[in-house]
This record gives sequence, structure tokens and C-alpha cells, in this order.
Amino acid sequence: MKTLKFEPINETLQVPTQSDLLEALLAKDLKVLMACGGKGICATCHVHIKDGMDKLTPRTVRENKTLGFITGCAPDSRLACQARVVGEGVVVELPEGMYIERVEDLMTYLGQRAQTNILHPINGSILIAKGKIITRSRLEELKALNVEVQQLKQSV
Ligand code: FES
Repeated sequence: MKTLKFEPINETLQVPTQSDLLEALLAKDLKVLMACGGKGICATCHVHIKDGMDKLTPRTVRENKTLGFITGCAPDSRLACQARVVGEGVVVELPEGMYIERVEDLMTYLGQRAQTNILHPINGSILIAKGKIITRSRLEELKALNVEVQQLKQSV
């Protein structure tokens, strides 16, 4: 077993050696959209590793390719579904923001200010910034997103 630490929520979790970070996120009841079903081709399980990058399996070719188009990718970026824990001392920082799968999921927030950044499920870009009002016209503009997500799901 290995101990993981999660920031900024300041929680820890014991996980079996070789388990992936996505399993750990789900075990902590953290909402992960998993738009690609854990295949390493979307942004919804993107995390930053604040410590212990060398205690994870190395990035896969697919992971590097996907991270290449994720907005906000940094040297400490990993896709949780692709990174397996092999040593002690991994500190995972959860990204700020909420991924959406369908534009309709935002309808209940129409006319309100976004409580957090609302993120694109495939590339992680900010669709609606924290504090901005969620307008009907913006949601209309985002409808193409539904098609993108469907195409991604059909391709895996
Ligand atoms: S769930 Fe899509 S890349 Fe991890």
C-alpha cells in the first residue's frame, strides 16, 4: 500500500501499489467526468503532481500526446487514469474548476455567476470563468461541445 496526499483539500488516502490515480480520485468521492472512460484522451482527469512525480509510472505515449493539447498543461501534469502509483510521497493537486459533459448541464445555473471555472471536457480550456454570468447566448455558443464529446466517446 502507498499513501497519497491530495491538495488543496488536505486529505490522504492509502492505495494499493500499482493502482492508478483515477481510482484514488473516485475512492475519495471526487467528481471526475471521465469523458473518454479512462482511455487517456480527454482532459477530465488532469491533475498536477506537486511532489513524487518519480513515484508514478512514466507518462505513456498517448498521455504525452493528450497533454500536448490540454490547456493548462505543465511539467507536473498527469492524466490520473494513466498514472500508476509505485512509491511513497505522491502529492496530487486537484485542478480548480468543473468539467461539463453536456451544455444542458449548465441550464440550472442560467443567469447566475459561475462559482468556479467551467472547463472544456476535452482540452481543459476555460469555457466560462469563475464569477462570469452564465448567459443563454453563451450556452448557445457552446452547443458544439456536445458534438465534440459524442465524437470522442464514439472514437474510443
Ligand atoms: S478519463 Fe479521459 S484521459 Fe483520463
